Parts: sequence; C-alpha cells; structure tokens
Amino acid sequence: MVGISVYNEIKTKRFEVSMEKKWWQQSVGYQIYPRSFYDSNNDGIGDLKGIIQKLDYIEKLGVNLIWICPFYRSPMDDNGYDVSDFYDVDPLFGTLDDAKELIQQAHSKNIKVILDLVMNQTSDEHPWFIESRKDKTNEKRDWYIWQDGKLDENNELHPPTNWASFFEGSCWNYDERTNQYYMKIFSDKMPDLNWENTQLRQAMKAMAKWWLDLGVDGFRIDAVAHLAKDLSFEDSTMKEDHLGYAQDWGKFSNRDRLFDYLAEFHDDVLQHYGCVTVGEVGGGANINDAVRYAGYQSKGFNMVFNFDHCWHKPARDDMGKTVGELSVDVVGLKQTLSRWINDSKDNVWIPHYWLNHDHPRVMSHYGDPTNHFKASGKMLGMILLTLPGTPFIYNGEEIGMTNVDYTSVDDYRDVWVRNFVKDAKSRMSNEQILRHLQRTSRDNARTPMQWDDSLYAGFSKHIPHQKVVGNYKEINVKKQVDDPTSIFSMYQSMIQLRLHSKYSDVLIYGDYTLLYQDHPQLFVFTRYNNNHKLMVVANFSSKHVDFLQDINKDSIVVNNYTEISETLRPYQCVIVEV
Ligand code: GLC
Ligand code: CA
Repeated sequence: MVGISVYNEIKTKRFEVSMEKKWWQQSVGYQIYPRSFYDSNNDGIGDLKGIIQKLDYIEKLGVNLIWICPFYRSPMDDNGYDVSDFYDVDPLFGTLDDAKELIQQAHSKNIKVILDLVMNQTSDEHPWFIESRKDKTNEKRDWYIWQDGKLDENNELHPPTNWASFFEGSCWNYDERTNQYYMKIFSDKMPDLNWENTQLRQAMKAMAKWWLDLGVDGFRIDAVAHLAKDLSFEDSTMKEDHLGYAQDWGKFSNRDRLFDYLAEFHDDVLQHYGCVTVGEVGGGANINDAVRYAGYQSKGFNMVFNFDHCWHKPARDDMGKTVGELSVDVVGLKQTLSRWINDSKDNVWIPHYWLNHDHPRVMSHYGDPTNHFKASGKMLGMILLTLPGTPFIYNGEEIGMTNVDYTSVDDYRDVWVRNFVKDAKSRMSNEQILRHLQRTSRDNARTPMQWDDSLYAGFSKHIPHQKVVGNYKEINVKKQVDDPTSIFSMYQSMIQLRLHSKYSDVLIYGDYTLLYQDHPQLFVFTRYNNNHKLMVVANFSSKHVDFLQDINKDSIVVNNYTEISETLRPYQCVIVEV
C-alpha cells in the first residue's frame, strides 16, 4: 500500500510540474548580435543605444523576448566571448547606464531581456587571469587549469594532452612565465576557468545574481557543456587530426561532474528568480543529456539549444563546394527535428532556431535566395513558428538576409576563420578556402543588419567593422516592413498567430506528428489538441511537388503563395485547419 501511494504521489507531482505553463514557453525570442545590429554613434560598430533606437522595430515584429550576445568589457578576440570585466559594458557598445536603459525600455514594451552568460572562460586580459599566470602560488592560480607539458625523448616540450581545441590546434597554450600550459578549448586568448574551485564558483554565482538584480530576465548560457573537464588529463586514444590533435570533445563536454556545478548554481542563484535560462549544449549532446540539463525534474536550466538540425545541408568537410552545389537532406532534417520533439515530450521543453551567430544564414543554407527568395524565406519562418517549443529568430532572418559575398579572406573577421585559414593554406587552394568559408563561416551571420538601401545599408554612416553584404539594396528592412507580401510581414503575422490567436494554445502546447516521413521534398506535420488540428504542408524544395491530399481552400489559415493546387509550387507552404 505504502509503495503504491508513494508512486501515485510522484506521478501526480510529475504531471503538475510538467504541465505548469511558463511565460517563456509563450515567448518568441529574437537574438541580437550587438556589434552588427545598429550603430547609433557612427563609429562603425553597433551598440546598445542602437538597440534602444530599434526597439520599436522589434516591437513591430512582435517578439516578446530578446537575447543579446555579449557586450561586457572585452578585448574582442572572439567578439565579446572573451570577457575582461563581467560587471561593465565595453565602451565600444556604450555604458552600464545604456544597458539599464535598454532593459527598462524593453520592459516597458513587454519585451523580456536575456543576456549571454559566459561561464566557461574569460579573456587572458581579465584581472583573474593576469593574477593567475603570475606564479604558481598566486591565490588565483587554481581559478584556471594549469598543467605541466610533456617532454619527449628529444627533450622537446609538448602540451599536457593531445586534445584538440574547437578553434584548431591544441586546447593548451604554453605560458613562459611559469613554464606551464593553461587550458583553452577556444582561442589562445580565452583561458578556461576551473569550476572545481569553490571561490571561482562563488564569483560566477555572484556575477549572475548581480545581473538578475539589475533586472535581466535570464540568460543564454554560453558553452556550458564544457564547464567540467576530464581531470585525469590522459591522452585521447581517438585518431589525431592532421595537426596531431584528437578532436575528442568528450574530454570536456557533458561530463557528470558538470551537473553538480549546475545544481549548485540552480540552488544558490536561479531558483530565487523567475528567470529563464537556455544552455548552449551543442554537438554531441542527445536527448538524455538535454533532460539532465533542463528536464522538468532537473536542477539546471529551462531549455538547451542543440545543433543537430543545423548541418543537414553540406557536411562541414565537403571542402571546395559552394552552397548551390549541395542540396538539403530534407529527410534527415525533418527526422532530426522530429526526434528531438518526440523524445522531449513530457520530459524537457526545447527551443528551436534556424541559425545563430555561429552559423551560416538559413536563407542561403536551407532556402534559395537566388530563385525563390520570398517563398523560401517565408516557408522557413512558417515552419519555425509552428514547431512545438520556444522559437528563436536571429536578427536579419526576418528579412531573409543571406551569406556573405566576400572575394578575399581578408574580408573575414572571425578568430576561427583566421586560425582555419592559417592552417588550410598548405592543404587547399585560395579558391577552395573561399568557397568553404562562403558556405560555412560564422561571419555569414555577423554582417551589419541591412536597414535600408543607403550606403552601408543604413547600419552606420561610418565604414562598418565588417563588410555589408552586396545585396543590401534589394534585401533590407525599409523595403519589407510595410510590404504585406514580404518575408518580414510573414514572420510578423506568424508571431501573431503563435502568440495572440485562437491557435496559440495548439501551436505552443499542442501535440506534434510528422507525416510523409520519407518524402524527399515534403515536410508535413500536424499540431493538435482537443480544440484544433492544424496541418503544416511545406514543399522544402525548388521543384514542383504533387501533394495528393485534398486541401480545402476554405480551411487555409496561412499560405505563402496566393493560390493552391494539387501541385505545390517551389517552397510553397500552407497551414490548414483540418
Ligand atoms: C559559443 C558561442 C561562440 C563562442 C564560443 C566561445 O559557442 O556561441 O560564438 O565563440 O561559445 O565562447
Ligand atoms: Ca557605435
């Protein structure tokens, strides 16, 4: 008897916990890359005042949550993910008062604000690291990860382990001062923090609290999968890459110990605020990991971003190909999305996005900017905003911005690109490198926002920190914002449909079923609850495709073409009530 009642109690509680509706489930997020959003003082770099000036635009789009990429003080080796002061705004972006004003003004428009919380590393110019590298007995020594190198038979010094970095080469950097190596899984200027150290954990918790007390509504937590490392520091047995390092991400990803750090962070910080947290838990993480990070029962975050759906076009190592030479693996894409949706049901709430600042532009990647700009851009928005979970739009996606058109590697800015080019020069022709970057580089998403058709796309009056894409005269906000047939207008009306219509409940909380699972062009799914059943039918291709099911013209809720027949037009997408 006792056993059964305990079981019932657990079951009921689980039901209640998972069914409790949260504000962040009823949100549509908009990610802003501050450096490239809008430059208010014409120095060529986007800034916080620029975001404030564009809040009306964001309100008009209709989103109710913004995530702003890092604007802390930083030497900008990795555009702000290398923080040198967590408590201040970098002068390039403005002042702390600007940040406060931004939060306040966004709130007055009922837009929540989340920041990018960088907890895995600091800049090498952060005072903690400046101390840490001074000598082995410094009180901040243990806040970072220091190890001796290894001597080979010729008395040559090598890094402590053969582990690769995400940004090419070793994940260790040698420091002459103390004749030791520090760990850095990203760039040389981004030493990893040692989360085993209690004082360091206290410092990070205090910092997060400080921003929450200032009024932010939560965080996207950067690179959080990597906080715990394999402290045995043994070489990986995985095959080494051409540089001699093993890309064995498991050595510092999703490790058990990490969840102790997160539970502490949750208990001491997060649970005291009604905030939202989205962890960045990239490649390699599966649904079980997601449940550990953000499950309804877990002491962690509210959601985690995974990357699985991002590379169903070209494999990254398909070196010299251009975007147009590779086609989207539609079956793989819809199966990946559906797997996450189905497996997360009842366990964990998931976010959805087509791209962020680390990916190519979805218009170029999964759409067809040359032949079907409007139709494919709208289709992508219609799918994103009808999937279960919380959708995030990346700035510029709502107007169909594309990849770069750069003709020289010097036009690229990203630290990863710089490292890649240095090494690739010996293996690839300049032409191949350019084609590869044009398709995969993170700079694709980091070009200045295209506001209008004036010089520098209305982003700034000064030459921008990174070249504007040449198509800004055709693709810009001014052209689309009042045009009811534009991609912008489609995103706008889809956000309304999701958040403020009789379909809101079914679109946010309804069930999901994928139909035509193996169809190579069609992406078809239903969303349903007791009151409504919607079917989303997308022709995810530039070909005409027969759709043999009857679509009653009167039941069409949204259509990205003006008409409908049994043959769907390229990238045609319709949402019907069935
Ligand atoms: C995350 C960020 C990326 C950054 C890295 C290191 O992946 O999204 O832009 O380079 O972490 O902080
Ligand atoms: Ca500026």
